[in-house]
Amino acid sequence: MTEKTSLAEWRVEQGWTQQQLAEKLNVATRTVIRWENGDSLPDAFNRPLLQELGFPPKQDRIPEQPAVAPQSLEHPSTYFVEDRSNQEEITRLTVLDAILTKDMGGLLPEQPDPHFKRVLDVGCGTGGWLIELARTIPDCQLLIGVDVSHTAIEYARARASAAGLGDRIEFRIGDALRMLEFPANSFDLVNHRAAASWLRTWDWPKLLREYLRVTCPGGIVRTTELDWFQTTSPAFEQYSILFLQALNQSGHLFTPTGDGVTRELARLLSQYGLLQVQTRDCTLEYRPDTEGWQSFLGNTDINFRISLPFLHKWTQVSDDEYHSLCKRALSEIQQSDFVARCNVLTAWGVKPSERGKQVLQTS
Ligand SMILES: C[S@@+](CC[C@H](N)C(=O)[O-])C[C@H]1O[C@@H](n2cnc3c(N)ncnc32)[C@H](O)[C@@H]1O
Repeated sequence: MTEKTSLAEWRVEQGWTQQQLAEKLNVATRTVIRWENGDSLPDAFNRPLLQELGFPPKQDRIPEQPAVAPQSLEHPSTYFVEDRSNQEEITRLTVLDAILTKDMGGLLPEQPDPHFKRVLDVGCGTGGWLIELARTIPDCQLLIGVDVSHTAIEYARARASAAGLGDRIEFRIGDALRMLEFPANSFDLVNHRAAASWLRTWDWPKLLREYLRVTCPGGIVRTTELDWFQTTSPAFEQYSILFLQALNQSGHLFTPTGDGVTRELARLLSQYGLLQVQTRDCTLEYRPDTEGWQSFLGNTDINFRISLPFLHKWTQVSDDEYHSLCKRALSEIQQSDFVARCNVLTAWGVKPSERGKQVLQTS
């Protein structure tokens, strides 16, 4: 078998520096360095651009594969939205992101001195949180968002580039349940929000260990999870019972209750090696006279449509029963005395330094 031409060899043959290649692909020079060092691979977005430039050379190319949709190459979904290319989900994610950030009181409301230089957001959705962070912390040098959904990542990339932030923000397609494809000690803040929607109880230990690995000593791991909504709508409450049943059956809840993840969050962070674990909670409230109510209504409407395959898989609900429940819930949400409340908990902790780790191990 003949040896294949490496990216570095090919680039040098073209007479280009790493920076020149990076400019042609509209990526950061460090991205090219990482590819050449084997620390990461060009993703589905950059591979066709590289091919247009001539890499890999013709003799090294694998014969054309039959066309396979990218989704079918992915890990089966553990997320409650099973169709990763659903456009309504993109709308829902974008709205959810904006209302959560606003109603929680900002991007990092509990961090007194948020001067982070390198930030990773896992399960970043359509990227709003990271894009806002890049705007508010101008000396943050690198912000990376990872999400398993191609559709969400493409949308996030377009938003970052429209905001003129493409040089500091990278959005990558990746399945965080497999591994985080970054060297150890890469970030001083690793964040996730609303990840219980795709994490089963048994996924937390591995994921938290990965968070610790990629966080630098003294850096912060921060997680935010939402309790399930409690409302005055009897039909919505019936939907909630079904949804919690499905979440519980599929392994997402530690206890079969609306707070079945948040009550464990601080314990998980401490148990898997974070120090100085702290929490902050806040309550979201939506009534027809509050600003976020319209978004709550719109997102609930979408939620009802996109969660049906998940509910079919894990509960016995029939189509007729489900559609009539959703119709009643949407009408009850629009009554003037409707109220929905939800508790949101952020838990964060510090990665110990090597010395701190030794002290912990011997004590
Ligand atoms: C509820 S949304 C939260 C989005 C964002 N973090 C926010 O708070 O606005 C969950 C996100 O996790 C993504 N996701 C699901 N499974 C994942 C996995 N295995 N690895 C990475 N991301 C995943 C989904 O595509 C979705 O964008």
